[in-house]
Amino acid sequence: MTTFNFPSDFMFGTATAALQIEGGDRNNNWYEWCEMGKTLDGSHCIVANDHWNRIDQDIELMKDLNCQTYRLGLEWSRIMPTPTTFSAEAIQHYREEISKLIDAGIHPLVTLHHFTNPLWLEHHGAWTNPKSVEYFLKYTEYVVNELGDLVRDWVTINEPNVYLAMGYFVGIFPPGKKGSVNEYFKGAKNMILAHLQAYDMIHKMRSEKGFLSTKVGVAHHLRIFEPFNQNRLSKMSCGTVAHLFETIFLEGMTHGKIVQPLGKGFPHGERVFSDFIGLNYYSRDLIKGSPNPLTLFGDRIVKKGSPVNDLGWEIYPEGIYKISKFLYHKYKLPIFVTENGTADAKDAFRAQYIYDHLYHLHRAIEEGIPVQRYYHWTLMDNFEWLEGFSARFGLIHHDVETQERTIRQSGHFYSEICKTRSVSKEMLAKYKPAE
Ligand code: FCB
Repeated sequence: MTTFNFPSDFMFGTATAALQIEGGDRNNNWYEWCEMGKTLDGSHCIVANDHWNRIDQDIELMKDLNCQTYRLGLEWSRIMPTPTTFSAEAIQHYREEISKLIDAGIHPLVTLHHFTNPLWLEHHGAWTNPKSVEYFLKYTEYVVNELGDLVRDWVTINEPNVYLAMGYFVGIFPPGKKGSVNEYFKGAKNMILAHLQAYDMIHKMRSEKGFLSTKVGVAHHLRIFEPFNQNRLSKMSCGTVAHLFETIFLEGMTHGKIVQPLGKGFPHGERVFSDFIGLNYYSRDLIKGSPNPLTLFGDRIVKKGSPVNDLGWEIYPEGIYKISKFLYHKYKLPIFVTENGTADAKDAFRAQYIYDHLYHLHRAIEEGIPVQRYYHWTLMDNFEWLEGFSARFGLIHHDVETQERTIRQSGHFYSEICKTRSVSKEMLAKYKPAE
């Protein structure tokens, strides 16, 4: 029997985002988007998993899963209801939640921005407005002031590339613009500048409070891109897509380097602006040649014969190994897998998916790549943006009508992995559905 053991300080956990589970907030762009009936299945985020009122129950579930860590998002629009005010009530709520996690032995990793904007910002150009940087820093300052004694580890921004591509290019996330290259680039630059300054601010504020080991990073959505065929145009398009969708953010947010077409130079100095690289890994895409590769954003071509999940995303476990290796060789920073998971309503292949991805992650670790954490996406089925409740990524099944939560077989499998910090085929066989 081969058991793959992870290092004794490796942390396993789950990740969520505020809007996808909390419910109850009407002051954000996704609430408005749902009001306009824009989700594919017509579902609405206003109730979601009612997590706002079920913190204790959900922490109990994390304990059942034996998680050592939890990545949670804060809802900016709750904390900063207007550009000039803060909600003591909202921040107190998060303080309580985070204290409860810590009491339960679950180490928090806090995300400041995960796709949602307060309406007051959304209606003034969101991240395409240069003032967004200043607003984000005000919000960050307030949060770190209030929570900085409890929270050591931070993700400033989740997937800036997905947020901007879906909102300004593909048009399926708010504000629903299509083909707006200029706005994609403007938003990218502002998000990079916001991260660079937030990075320094969080470190400075925490060290002034006497806390020295602060970790700040970005959760990057990184995919494997491969040319559709061996044509020169396909290869060139593939390179361009990778550059515009990934490299500009990695270079900007890790090294403080602004690269073309965003501009050039190091606006806040040439140094390192991330303590870890957050990797959200899901899938691989083949890229067809196109004279305008930006139009390929959102176009998914799956390699013939490859397995896919409920949403048609290719399942390509080796990709997590390849990207971890690439990231470490390029940036020499620790890697946190800040998201990895799959849509599988029947729980037919999730356990296998977890096994295969951990197998490849373990391979990377064996080769000396410092992958230090794995956050499974996600704790329980939730409001999956465009797909609403129809896409089911949870280790825990969630009943939208009754709010009942039930741990799936794959959740029990994950629980054993977290507990033993190891995985083996024999363990998988116990939980995997019979073929
Ligand atoms: C990522 C998002 C996350 C979730 C997963 C499935 O792109 O960060 O919120 O929707 O995809």
